[in-house]
Amino acid sequence: MQLFLCPFCPPVPSVLDEFHIRGRQATIELARAAGLDSTKHVLDVGSGVGGPSRCIAREFGCRVTGIDLTDEYCRVAFMLAERIGLSRLVSYQQGDALNLPFPDRTFDVVWSQHAAMNIAYKETLYREMYRVLKPGGVLAIYDILAGPAGQIIFPVPWARRPETNFLVTPDELRRLLEESGFKILAWEDTTSAAKDWFASMAWNIQQGGLPTLGFHVLLGPDFQTMVQNQRQSLEKGRMILVQVVGSK
Ligand SMILES: C[S@@+](CC[C@H](N)C(=O)[O-])C[C@H]1O[C@@H](n2cnc3c(N)ncnc32)[C@H](O)[C@@H]1O
Repeated sequence: MQLFLCPFCPPVPSVLDEFHIRGRQATIELARAAGLDSTKHVLDVGSGVGGPSRCIAREFGCRVTGIDLTDEYCRVAFMLAERIGLSRLVSYQQGDALNLPFPDRTFDVVWSQHAAMNIAYKETLYREMYRVLKPGGVLAIYDILAGPAGQIIFPVPWARRPETNFLVTPDELRRLLEESGFKILAWEDTTSAAKDWFASMAWNIQQGGLPTLGFHVLLGPDFQTMVQNQRQSLEKGRMILVQVVGSK
């Protein structure tokens, strides 16, 4: 696997704490598109073990609150933040994206990467994101969507079977966001970059085998099948990647 080294950071590779396609590169791109800076308080919905939140806090100086369904992820995220001296800027709490435990109009930016594909009730998800965003605030999303050429190939990291896969098409996402009240400011299809990333990962595994530390540690023995399935789904036009920036 090729490790992406953040151009701003000390040489610490983002091996598995950015649990989404294209890792830290995608996080930096979304942060720039969303105009993050030290005046912003960001809510990271589905924050996982916190790689993206620590990255944007460190590189852009923003304050980040992460929320995730999995309590253990939140505890690991905070432990890592403390170890690298970021606990002043980031915090995590267990909670459900469908019932965000925050008052209306709390955050300057609502951010989410690769969390929506497991969430069936998308009307509620985006309505909640809209509710906790301040007027004029920014929505920043990086997600996997359903492509036009049929069902994705299973298993994938977020679903072993179709019953737990909740990808929507680009048209459906647009409609969901607009019906929730968001104005879409920028919409970028990053499928081609995702194809390149998977090709590079496959080549690296072919050349050197699996690294000691990588996504396979989280995903288990099906990791290589999941990589192949995502790659094929991308190539066949069944899965696409988008970066979307909106406003309230
Ligand atoms: C693929 S991981 C992405 C983690 C992180 N955004 C990143 O890019 O590194 C998806 C995360 O979404 C969380 N998640 C799924 N459904 C959720 C929900 N309803 N509310 C909050 N978090 C949720 C999962 O627990 C998981 O940590």
